[in-house]
Amino acid sequence: MSATLQFDEEASRRSEATYMTPDVVEQRRAVRAALALGQGEKVLDIGSGPGLLAHEVAAEVGASGSVTGIDPSESMLTLARRRRPPDGAAEIRFVAGDACALPFADGSFDAAVATQVYEYVQDLPAALGEAFRVLRPGGRLLVLDTDWGSIVWHSRDAERTRRVLTAWDEHLVDPYLPRRLTRLLSDARFSLARREAIPLLNAGYDPNTFSAGLMGFIAKFVPGRQGLTEADAHAWAEDLKALGDDYFFSLNRYLFLAMR
Ligand SMILES: C[S@@+](CC[C@H](N)C(=O)[O-])C[C@H]1O[C@@H](n2cnc3c(N)ncnc32)[C@H](O)[C@@H]1O
Repeated sequence: MSATLQFDEEASRRSEATYMTPDVVEQRRAVRAALALGQGEKVLDIGSGPGLLAHEVAAEVGASGSVTGIDPSESMLTLARRRRPPDGAAEIRFVAGDACALPFADGSFDAAVATQVYEYVQDLPAALGEAFRVLRPGGRLLVLDTDWGSIVWHSRDAERTRRVLTAWDEHLVDPYLPRRLTRLLSDARFSLARREAIPLLNAGYDPNTFSAGLMGFIAKFVPGRQGLTEADAHAWAEDLKALGDDYFFSLNRYLFLAMR
């Protein structure tokens, strides 16, 4: 059993579907607002996943700009390359690679973004050092990650939910990364320009939400961890769905904008 979540074909497809829910569409809007991109800028999307943000960014920087996505998952790269760029958008390319060894020259980009990626990375000082190196002086890095200590998920079996979420913490290298990011960014010589929380709230069960998609990831990941079986994971998810109007989920993402 691998330690962290692997973005194989099934996980990549599941991610793409979850990232199209209104919750995550709104999160990308907040990310783009904080980046405040202008026409002609060169942007790097680190851990670009299914490429949704990269395509939105390409429309913002226009044909005179450029967007590069990098990701180690072939399944994610396939999904990203399949998307059709919007009319008038910048050229977009998706390349295979790792945040800790970016295959780009020093000062290549005006802006870099890593959403829900650094919490999967083993050597974060190396990854932040690489982001710093490939940005031009004055360029900006936007980082967004979840702190899983902020989760509220109502359930009729609190002890089972606690075990499920403890097991789910194992899907990341650091499930509590945001609380350390201020120090890590400043150690990597970035100056912090902005920090904000982006709360997710799903009240009342609706399959077209972030947390409904998340449930599928968790039910697949946790069996065999914390003594949980497939039946436990299934029963946990069914219990939450059956709450109907009493369903309640909340989780915070944290956005950091840092200047090189
Ligand atoms: C949760 S997904 C987020 C995808 C995308 N950034 C988004 O927000 O839509 C995490 C992505 O990080 C990628 N990833 C994991 N480890 C990485 C690493 N060391 N370097 C670059 N990307 C990585 C995964 O392959 C996956 O596509």
